[in-house]
Amino acid sequence: MNKVTVSAPGKLMLLGEHAVVYNHPCLVTAVDQRMRATVETLDSLEFQLEAEDVGVTGYKKPLSNLGKGDIPKGAQSVEIAVRNISEKYPLRTGLRVTTKSEFSSQFGFGSSSASTVCTIKAVSEILGLNLSQKDIFDLSYKTVLDIQGKGSGFDVAAAVFGGTLYFVTGEKVIKPMSVDSLPLIVGYSGVKADTVTLINKVKESFVHKQKRLNEIYNSIEVLVNNARDALIKKDWKRFGKLMNKNQDLLVKLGVSIDKLDNMIKASLSEGAYGAKLSGAGGGDCMIAIVPKDNEQEVKDGISQAGGKVVNIKTNAEGVRIEK
Ligand code: MEV
Repeated sequence: MNKVTVSAPGKLMLLGEHAVVYNHPCLVTAVDQRMRATVETLDSLEFQLEAEDVGVTGYKKPLSNLGKGDIPKGAQSVEIAVRNISEKYPLRTGLRVTTKSEFSSQFGFGSSSASTVCTIKAVSEILGLNLSQKDIFDLSYKTVLDIQGKGSGFDVAAAVFGGTLYFVTGEKVIKPMSVDSLPLIVGYSGVKADTVTLINKVKESFVHKQKRLNEIYNSIEVLVNNARDALIKKDWKRFGKLMNKNQDLLVKLGVSIDKLDNMIKASLSEGAYGAKLSGAGGGDCMIAIVPKDNEQEVKDGISQAGGKVVNIKTNAEGVRIEK
């Protein structure tokens, strides 16, 4: 095979962010907005990348320089992925990678992780490696850690496996939840957040209060485990209440912002069962679990609070070959 296109879904954290970085569980769902990557072989021993969505065009370097020198931010998730897979399975041809996203890289849907997963899967197809989902997860998670140093890999798991997952970092647990879809509404705050900055912010502000921080993370773990039960029973009212409690703890961690708080408040006063920020905080998106009858009111509430409603479906399929 000398050309392949694959796609992987974006993700939304349901409950458990931040705590999941420190070996506590989280719940994550894959969303139906996807990242695509086409990988084709080249005669020259070059790596080429077109990733217009993140401002990378006409980018090229010799394969021997993969991962070296100054790599533009938008190129890292693909270039380091190619370097990592080629260190294990040497390349005999050059590669040209073209990525295209159905969602904005601003939303916090995990566009970098999804492009890493697409790249690993596509190169594995080109090389005829037949890598398992676990192999793809491992190489992709290594890539994320090589680039940002920190992270639980929950976004990589969502991109690889899809669906809704109960996840504990280090692939200790990746348990698919048998639920078709969640009654979820998503609002984008318009503020771009940086995950590593927020992880560090939490760490620094609790540097002399480690015991308190552990208490918060343990409480989040209890909420996640209860939410998993509520999810299995499709008890959305209970799921919503647990989301609210999770949000209170995220506020205590200091990662919510006024804009998100206002969008969350608006959702609740328009009848949502529960609402919280989703992801690192500091911006990106909030999510609300909403009874069918209140969908429009909640969407209007989010808009009036200055948010942008992003229409998604949950439980999307994991990484797949497109053609
Ligand atoms: C970021 O979307 C969620 C965090 O828990 C980081 C991670 O799990 O990698 C803050």
